[in-house]
Amino acid sequence: MDLGIAGKTALVAASTGGLGLAIARALAAEGVRIAIVGRRRERAKEIVAELQEAYGRPGFDAAAIEADLTTAEGVRAAVEQTTADLGPIDILVLNGPGPKPGAAATLGSDDIAAAFELLVKPHHALVSHVLPGMRERRWGRILAVGSSGVAAPLPNLAISNTGRAALAGYLKTLAAEVALDSVTVNMLLPGRIATDRVAELDHAAAKRRGTTFEEIQLESRKSIPARRYGEPEEFGAAAAFLCSAPASYITGVALRCDGGLIRSL
Ligand SMILES: NC(=O)c1ccc[n+]([C@@H]2O[C@H](COP(=O)([O-])OP(=O)(O)OC[C@H]3O[C@@H](n4cnc5c(N)ncnc54)[C@H](OP(=O)(O)O)[C@@H]3O)[C@@H](O)[C@H]2O)c1
Repeated sequence: MDLGIAGKTALVAASTGGLGLAIARALAAEGVRIAIVGRRRERAKEIVAELQEAYGRPGFDAAAIEADLTTAEGVRAAVEQTTADLGPIDILVLNGPGPKPGAAATLGSDDIAAAFELLVKPHHALVSHVLPGMRERRWGRILAVGSSGVAAPLPNLAISNTGRAALAGYLKTLAAEVALDSVTVNMLLPGRIATDRVAELDHAAAKRRGTTFEEIQLESRKSIPARRYGEPEEFGAAAAFLCSAPASYITGVALRCDGGLIRSL
């Protein structure tokens, strides 16, 4: 299927690794001009070189942008540099670091504030900068990386469950407001996709429970109907579709990419 987005410009937040990088690669394969954004400048440059090598052809370009997206300055700089290097942003992928674990019963007011600081404010700031141009040009795709916790809150991840539910509410409301301008707003919910972060979490769980990394992964795989973790490429492919031209009538959804992990309808 031709995704019809060659030549568009995408800012993919937190794309120097993990899910963000998988999305950036999938979009670049479609000829989308990509801004790779993260705190590691050298890693961003390596990825840009990789993309240029793989997809370099007239019209394709990529930019390496060093920015801390949890700060207002970082967000502004990332948007300004993307626009200067690659042109107006047509596709905005919202992604960023996850919060620390913790139970709901012991959440303090600082934790509640952190949920908004980390999981709502940076994404809202990016949208605020980019949305007016999308509406003016009457085309746009906003896609947020969420978590299965949006559909079924996860035990001991109270900050994540709280912040991501708030983000989901904001984006769902926004989707209805901008549909008439041909801007779609969706979320993609990872179950367990094999990234560095998931490996770190599994190592931490093994240490906490006095067992091995392999045991934790085996147990985790048993809880997934597909009996395996997802590959980042599978997640990237789903994201590229939601950002595509043929996905023009899909908006306001929170699509699961989880091998059947979430059991609720
Ligand atoms: N993987 C899964 O199965 C899964 C499941 C549920 C939820 N999630 C959520 O999905 C998001 C991405 O997860 P992941 O697995 O891809 O994580 P990851 O492998 O740890 O990658 C995180 C990315 O975020 C960037 N980053 C971190 N802090 C940043 C900051 N302040 N400013 C800009 N970039 C920053 C990192 O690059 P730099 O170090 O260069 O900044 C890196 O590129 C997280 O919020 C995670 O909680 C993932």
